[in-house]
Amino acid sequence: MTVPVAAPGDAPRAALVPVRPADALFLSHLHRSAFPPAEAWSATVIALQLEAPGGFGLLDPRGGMILGRAIAREAEVLTLAVEPGMRRGGIGRGLLAGAMVQARGLDADAMFLEVAVNNDPAIGLYRAAGFEQVGLRRRYYADGTDALVMRVSLSAAAGL
Ligand SMILES: CC(C)(COP(=O)(O)OP(=O)(O)OC[C@H]1O[C@@H](n2cnc3c(N)ncnc32)[C@H](O)[C@@H]1OP(=O)(O)O)[C@@H](O)C(=O)NCCC(=O)NCCS
Repeated sequence: MTVPVAAPGDAPRAALVPVRPADALFLSHLHRSAFPPAEAWSATVIALQLEAPGGFGLLDPRGGMILGRAIAREAEVLTLAVEPGMRRGGIGRGLLAGAMVQARGLDADAMFLEVAVNNDPAIGLYRAAGFEQVGLRRRYYADGTDALVMRVSLSAAAGL
């Protein structure tokens, strides 16, 4: 089943593909292409996230993936990755919009995420999608970098 996603400003519109634990090996290669080696997720970790209660994932076959979780009316972006050669083409924006639609369909009222304070591309993407900072986790990442905690209300999110 594909999930047609209306992502304002995207051309062309992308059809996102829901992923399953059986897709974890493929997704781990995609994830590894997008993150430094120390931050890349293994197939085992990805499969566990997809098998966990409320876990879901979407693939943009052009070269992007997002994993999320929705439990007790709250959703979370677990990871988002776009292949380096495919960036700035709207794939990240489309995946995030798709995850927000999926989370709302799973009865979540709000979506949260953590992002490194120095990850300007991701912070720009999240702010453009309506996320706002609601917290700061000091030394959240292994290299000591702080993380912003960001939140968006799914009921109020534009374009959903
Ligand atoms: C963050 C990431 C997913 C963005 O994916 P993308 O497909 O390039 O993003 P999009 O093309 O959809 O960009 C959407 C918006 O995000 C912002 N943005 C994206 N890349 C940006 C950059 N390098 N600098 C500034 N803003 C950026 C812009 O507002 C952009 O809109 P615009 O192109 O109209 O200006 C991608 O850079 C990535 O995979 N990075 C490595 C992994 C990572 O950091 N993941 C997030 C962890 S929390």
